[in-house]
Amino acid sequence: MKKAIGLLLWLTAVSVQAAESAPAAAPNGVTLPAYFKEWRIIGVSQRNDKQSLRAILGNPAAVEAARQGRTQPWPDGAILAKIAWKDAALPEWPAAIVPGELQHVEFMVKDAGKYVATGGWGFARWLGNALVPYGKDAAFDQECFQCHGAVKARDYVFTRPVVIP
Ligand code: HEC
Repeated sequence: MKKAIGLLLWLTAVSVQAAESAPAAAPNGVTLPAYFKEWRIIGVSQRNDKQSLRAILGNPAAVEAARQGRTQPWPDGAILAKIAWKDAALPEWPAAIVPGELQHVEFMVKDAGKYVATGGWGFARWLGNALVPYGKDAAFDQECFQCHGAVKARDYVFTRPVVIP
């Protein structure tokens, strides 16, 4: 009995800790996808105008769709992540530009039924290592959606999945 109570207390402590460490949801309700650090690569990019390097990753559903060319449209359940770092020079070889300070992580969560107002994608961004949710109110995602409207014909996705032989 004592053991069972001990286990219960321990489980409660662990779950409270997990709840505390998860960053707050974005103002439109999109939550930070768990395990995104384990996802695989879909693309990389560099913004010369922002001096920043980006890795575009996908959850298993997105990576499978990308590899099979099922991206017109991307299937429900696909999530794309973009991790952006400030450019930094590799100290031992300054001509090599490598990821420096983390700027933000951002996501596009595909659910055509749920996110009708933003092209079937739930947009969300978290800033810096503290993962502070971006956006003043629930309508912040209109900013994302409007700019991504430039690639409406590609299901609002700029990235062309990389070819990996
Ligand atoms: C002013 C234009 C602009 C705005 C605003 C914008 N994006 Fe993007 N986004 C881009 C461009 C250009 C790319 C592709 C180049 C790159 O990787 O940075 C991109 C790429 C992405 C990707 C990788 C998938 C893809 O479409 O290539 C995600 C995820 C993403 N953006 C999320 C967001 C979120 C979330 C917001 C709003 C908080 C947002 N974006 C706002 C221009 C924009």
